[in-house]
Order: sequence, then C-alpha cells, then structure tokens
Amino acid sequence: MSAENLKKEAAEAALDYVKSGMKLGLGTGSTANYFIKALGKKVANGFDILCVPTSIASQELAKSLNIPLTTLDATSKLDLVVDGADELDEALNLIKGGGGALLREKIVAAASSQMIVIADDSKLVNHLGAFPLPVEVVPFGAGATIEMMKQAIKNAASSGAIRLRNNVDGTPFVTDGGHYIYDCALGQILNPKQLAQNLNLIPGVVEHGLFIGLSKVAILATATGIKKIEIL
Ligand code: 5RP
Repeated sequence: MSAENLKKEAAEAALDYVKSGMKLGLGTGSTANYFIKALGKKVANGFDILCVPTSIASQELAKSLNIPLTTLDATSKLDLVVDGADELDEALNLIKGGGGALLREKIVAAASSQMIVIADDSKLVNHLGAFPLPVEVVPFGAGATIEMMKQAIKNAASSGAIRLRNNVDGTPFVTDGGHYIYDCALGQILNPKQLAQNLNLIPGVVEHGLFIGLSKVAILATATGIKKIEIL
C-alpha cells in the first residue's frame, strides 16, 4: 500500500474518537489534510463539530469544506486535537514542524484535553532525531539565538548542523507567526526532555518541534492494518 493510502487510513481511523458536539483541533500536513477531508464529509451529512485549525493552510481547507471554525480566543479549551508528526517513538515523544506549523500546533495541543497522532508507520522510530528538529526563531538577533541553540544542543549531549529553512526560491521560509524555522540535523536525540528544556530557555526561540507528554494515543497505519500506541 502506498504511503498516501496509509496516511489516509490512519486519518480515517481517528474519526472513531471524534464525537458529536466536540470542540476539535485540526492539525497541519498531508496526513492531517486527509483527516480534515474525512471530517468534511461527516459535516456535510450534518455532524455537529466546532474546530480550531493549527495553520492558515488547514483553516483554508476546513473552510472550503464548510467545517465550522472558531478560535482559541472564543473557545479556550478543546476536547481533542488530531495531528500528524514527522517522527514519534514508543513513548509518544514527537518531532513536529516539518510543515512549519509547530507553534500553533503546540498551542492547540496544550489547549486540548487529548492529542491523537496520526501517521503511517514509517514515522515510528527507536530514537528521535533522524528527522531534523525544527526550531521556530524570531528573526531579530537570529545569529545570536543560533549560537545559544548550539550550546543548548551541546548541553543535551547532541550535535549537528543547524540550517535556516528556505522556500524553493531561496528566500527564508516564514511561519504563520512571522518567524524563521531552523532545522537542526541532530541524527539522534539522546535526551529529548533535556533538549526541550534547554531550547525553551533561549529568548529568541519561540518554540521547538519536540512534543513531549502531549499525546497519549497514536494511530499508525501499517501494511497489515492499524496499530495503536496508547500510553496509560
Ligand atoms: C506540520 C507538522 C506535520 O504534522 C508533520 O510535518 C507531518 O506532516 P505529514 O503528515 O505531511 O507527513 O508537524 O508542522
């Protein structure tokens, strides 16, 4: 089965967790898009739901499908967010931000009672880090922030190249919040919790793509069916 079919399967399996009347966070990325499209079909059949998107892209997709939307200003607590991931381990530590939406994704996840990760099983790894860790940085003083990030990474016993994420035309990629993304190619993140704490202390770092303790359920589509990881 193709990776796209697996993403779609995982996304559709997550619909079982979505109950009528819920306030729901909508993730970002290709897997989350399958979920939003499947939800759109339910909404077209009269399903009652109110959603907060994690990016302008997801907002546009949800709008096009007539999914009722709100904001965290109007609705500060959500029942559930369903989102993809770039990597996850068995403890449900995640790397997110491959699509550049990690800040809104983390804000929405923190405002949700539950986060369900949807992915094809290629995203499941023994150790996080093969996927470069995205870090969202304020453009002002970015050079100084990068030096502090290098030290923070070293202090968490990791190392690797840090690269500014660019668009295809070579201009810096700018997030929905107006920030840069630096991708940190660390190979293996030995101590995700320590690294997350170290990066959080840097003033110019807005957020990083390590999601730790935010999700207790992952729905992974494999060639032989759906695999669930649940942390009790
Ligand atoms: C966007 C994300 C996505 O969830 C992550 O990049 C996975 O995307 P995809 O489902 O397209 O593989 O974190 O910021």
